[in-house]
Order: sequence, then C-alpha cells, then structure tokens
Amino acid sequence: MEAGELSGTVTLHLDTAQNQPHRAEIAKLMTRIHRRRRGVGTALMLEAERIARDGGRTQLTPETATEDGAGPFYEKLGFIEAGVTR
Ligand SMILES: CC(C)(COP(=O)(O)OP(=O)(O)OC[C@H]1O[C@@H](n2cnc3c(N)ncnc32)[C@H](O)[C@@H]1OP(=O)(O)O)[C@@H](O)C(=O)NCCC(=O)NCCS
Repeated sequence: MEAGELSGTVTLHLDTAQNQPHRAEIAKLMTRIHRRRRGVGTALMLEAERIARDGGRTQLTPETATEDGAGPFYEKLGFIEAGVTR
C-alpha cells in the first residue's frame, strides 16, 4: 500500500498436492501500472519466497506469457526457464 492505494499484489499457492509438499506456486503477481519499475514486484516476490521457504518449500514456480510476459523480471530474480506450455 502507498498513500492509501494498493501498489501491487502477489498470490502464493501453498495448497499443493499431497505428493508435492516441496512445491509452491506464484499464482498472480501484479504491480499497478503507474507504480512499476520501482521495486514493488521484487519486494512482493522476496516476501513470497520467504513465506514459501519458511513453509519448507524448495521449489517455487511462477508462470508467465512468452510474449510480453514477465520473463526478464523473473530472470533478474534468479528464476530459470523450465519450459513452455501450450
Ligand atoms: C512483472 C511486474 C509484476 C513487475 O513489477 P515491478 O514492480 O515493475 O517490478 P520491479 O520494479 O521490482 O522490477 C525489477 C526488475 O525486473 C525487470 N523488469 C521489470 N519489468 C520489466 C519489463 N517490463 N521488461 C523488462 N524487464 C523488466 C527489470 O530488470 C527491473 O529492474 P530495473 O527497473 O532496475 O531495470 C509488472 O510489470 C506487472 O504487473 N506486469 C503485468 C502482470 C504480470 O506480467 N505478472 C507476472 C506474471 S503472473
């Protein structure tokens, strides 16, 4: 929140299948358009990572579009592309 306005949001899914207790997923990450490129997305991801790690999760998976998606953003955070789904 900034000046009473939501700057961004992230949804972290921890409710994974019983046989995948090591996994967590970034379901949605969004920074308000006029607040982008000021570190909001990074702060949200670092907090999501902290919560996932504290919950014992060792694999965190975001998904994004191949065209005009958030690939460069996630790569800067150290994520590695694992494949393309169609
Ligand atoms: C992706 C998104 C969440 C990034 O949020 P943000 O608050 O602007 O991110 P940050 O300011 O923390 O950016 C950190 C770095 O990521 C990279 N980055 C962020 N947006 C980028 C873009 N559009 N193109 C290339 N690199 C980008 C940059 O290296 C940036 O550092 P810099 O500004 O010093 O160059 C935001 O652009 C967004 O809401 N996009 C639409 C929704 C979306 O694609 N969500 C993710 C998939 S669910």
